[in-house]
Amino acid sequence: MVSTPASPLLFTPLALGPLTIDNRVIVAPMCQYSAIDGVAQPWHQQHLGGFAASNAGLIILEATGVTNAGRISPYCLALETDAQEAALTKLLADIRTYSQVPFGIQLAHAGRKASTGYPWEGGKPLAPGVNGGWQPVGPTDEPFTADGPAPHALTEAEIAATVAAFVEAAKRADRAGFDLVEIHGAHGYLIHQFLSPLVNKRTDRYGGSLENRMRLALEVAEAVRAVWPKHKSLGIRLSATDWVDGGWSVEETAILSQKLEAIGLDFIHITSGGVVGSAKIPVGPNYQVPAADAIKKAVSIPVIAVGMIVTGPQAEAILQQGKADAIAIARAFLDDPRWVWRAAEALGVDLRLDGRYQRATGKTWPGAALKNAPLAVAAE
Ligand SMILES: Cc1cc2nc3c(=O)[nH]c(=O)nc-3n(C[C@H](O)[C@H](O)[C@H](O)COP(=O)(O)O)c2cc1C
Repeated sequence: MVSTPASPLLFTPLALGPLTIDNRVIVAPMCQYSAIDGVAQPWHQQHLGGFAASNAGLIILEATGVTNAGRISPYCLALETDAQEAALTKLLADIRTYSQVPFGIQLAHAGRKASTGYPWEGGKPLAPGVNGGWQPVGPTDEPFTADGPAPHALTEAEIAATVAAFVEAAKRADRAGFDLVEIHGAHGYLIHQFLSPLVNKRTDRYGGSLENRMRLALEVAEAVRAVWPKHKSLGIRLSATDWVDGGWSVEETAILSQKLEAIGLDFIHITSGGVVGSAKIPVGPNYQVPAADAIKKAVSIPVIAVGMIVTGPQAEAILQQGKADAIAIARAFLDDPRWVWRAAEALGVDLRLDGRYQRATGKTWPGAALKNAPLAVAAE
């Protein structure tokens, strides 16, 4: 059992390299499938604005394609054009009028998992030219699903162009005002496709040995590090395991993480799965925390845990046990954008809310006492 300390770790600042976040609650990246031509829309403003006014330590914007062809769907954000950059610049500038919360962006290339429909309509692959679909690319021409279009297998020149696209997108992210970049190396997207022996069957210097499979991830990290300002934070999200025998493993993730630390990355964000549809993933409370713990033992930069972490005390216990340095939350934030307030209440922390919201605290609002007892009141 972990007792709740007087000053919970969840509400203690953390340095992610040069960026110090006020508390260790991170809004995980969440695709919103609401962009038009890769350009952010009012939906993004309301989605992110709520979190920005609600005391999160850091918000990481959804997977954003470094090219239009690297988007997961035709409705995902991209950061390849001036119009896409201008919309993200305005989005952040508007948020900065009411919140100084640090903002990160997840830079991504979906590889063979690109060109899919809305997840709430089944997320099926879109054939090239149909409903905005296009031919994806990948390490080989093997599709992700049997009904999906065969990807074009990237040539070495095209791999170099992809690395360059990450660099250009990072420069745009800097100009747009982001404080942090998270390279998307997880969930079966392009970088993970190269890491995993389940997908990467290449016979050139990007396939085969661990060293070769890691080459793309390391080249992207090194190239982005070279242009991303030293005063801003740079990290990566990695799937620590494919959950399939013979797949990408926690041990390999530890080796890769050490190399990424040596390149100068500031944090590792540990998730899992996504590279093949057949994996049996034991989803449950804290199910990815043991992997985060293993990576934390391998590196000295901060490690972020994510996955079915739902309450403040649950998050606090992971930090108290030393299994991670920060906690990312996704679905619990969709459920309750004021998640940080609930966590603070549960952990006995007196949060300083935006002045406009201070009338809704337990100290200022007698009605707050009814929140947890609405049925009892209704029954009277
Ligand atoms: C709506 C939605 C969109 C997501 N989009 C992304 C994404 O853009 N990039 C990413 O790495 N993970 C994405 N994820 C995964 C989450 O970041 C997170 O890792 C996962 O949901 C587990 O955390 P949770 O149990 O707190 O939801 C998404 C999850 C949800 C629910």
